[in-house]
Amino acid sequence: MQFFRCRICGDVFIGTAAPSNCPYCGGKAKYLVPVEQWVDENLAITELSEISRQNLEKALHLEVDNTPFYRDASAKAKTMKLQGVFKGLAKVENEHASVIQKILKCKFPPPNPANSTATDDDPENLRLAHEREIEASKFYARSSVEAIEPRVKKVFLALSEVEADHIRLENELMQS
Ligand SMILES: [Fe+2]
Ligand SMILES: [Fe+2]
Repeated sequence: MQFFRCRICGDVFIGTAAPSNCPYCGGKAKYLVPVEQWVDENLAITELSEISRQNLEKALHLEVDNTPFYRDASAKAKTMKLQGVFKGLAKVENEHASVIQKILKCKFPPPNPANSTATDDDPENLRLAHEREIEASKFYARSSVEAIEPRVKKVFLALSEVEADHIRLENELMQS
């Protein structure tokens, strides 16, 4: 067994081999390193630029709303498959909120109730989830370009890639 640590979320995975994606934040395999090679890259950020702060704050709200939306969609799901899918996505989005919150060094804001409730209809929840992921992925890609700090650039790019994976997964589920 080995210990791998994620360069995006900082969490540790124990297993015989590195997984294809971080089990916590969904980051790609390239971000998973043996624990002894891990460094806390957040320490390189001394002061956040105004644009990065604004984008990180918006991202935090987005993730904080997406987490209960997915939990609710999971609780209301009519099939075991969707119950699991939404549960998995809730975990990942919650981890994203935590990644962003560590950079901002702030408390978790409360979710916006108007933005964090799912419907009673599975296909509609999948469609809404898909819209959320598209918005997040585009916004993170743009925020990565706008960021001046290498660490913020990297985190936004990694999150954008994860949300793009979710879009592909949801596309497949909507077509099945
Ligand atoms: Fe991670
Ligand atoms: Fe996310």
